[in-house]
Amino acid sequence: MRRFLIAGNWKMNCGPADAAELLEGLKNAKAEVAEEVDVLVCPPFVSLSMSVNYLHDTDIQVGAQNLHFEDNGAFTGEVSATMLTEAGCAFVIIGHSERREYFGETDSTVNKKAKKALENDLVPVICVGESLDQRKQDIHYQLVENQTKAAFEGISSSEALDAVIAYEPIWAIGTGETATPEQAQEMHAHIRGVLAGLYDKETADGIRILYGGSMKPGNAEELLGQEDVDGGLIGGASLKAEDFAQIIYAR
Ligand code: 13P
Repeated sequence: MRRFLIAGNWKMNCGPADAAELLEGLKNAKAEVAEEVDVLVCPPFVSLSMSVNYLHDTDIQVGAQNLHFEDNGAFTGEVSATMLTEAGCAFVIIGHSERREYFGETDSTVNKKAKKALENDLVPVICVGESLDQRKQDIHYQLVENQTKAAFEGISSSEALDAVIAYEPIWAIGTGETATPEQAQEMHAHIRGVLAGLYDKETADGIRILYGGSMKPGNAEELLGQEDVDGGLIGGASLKAEDFAQIIYAR
């Protein structure tokens, strides 16, 4: 049985002071007492340690938004997996479309980063998803299939069970436009089928697949009600404590 995961991707928002305010809001909104849902926040690097400290007496987990696949060395501006675990992170977002678009992430770097995260007991939240153009050209299923296969190359089924996938149609990110529950379910089922082909049905059934792209209190219940939607990766609405808490309790 897959446990729901509601994850907030704060993107480049909330330095330590704003992070403290938002986390206080989440505590007030009782986000930390959700029993049937795993809750995760992913602040920017500089707010990770304070978030871990702030949440130490709650079940809310903390994740980073990126990592480098090398252990250490001359990689100015980068942060390694061991640094993240030392800071108290349990998760890390990998291959977000914004990183693919603006920072040159490729299927190959996504794969290296996913492996490095798993090696270091960090749960990788591997992002896949198509642009509007790709959907219009009707190549979205093939594209997401290719992204998924590349991300999991060389990863064993027992490791894969520790990973999370986030399907984030780029056309729905920050646009207010959301995939319909049917569109989300179709793609999630497709991804699960791809995982079953790579591994086996049992493994595929054990991997959580989140939906991301303008998830908000008004649409969360319907999206989360789909059979293969196991949670959400939420951007804008995760910056408002009340909205994020409402999504946590949407089901
Ligand atoms: P929005 O919820 O703001 O559309 O962002 C989705 C996203 O990119 C989460 O990673």
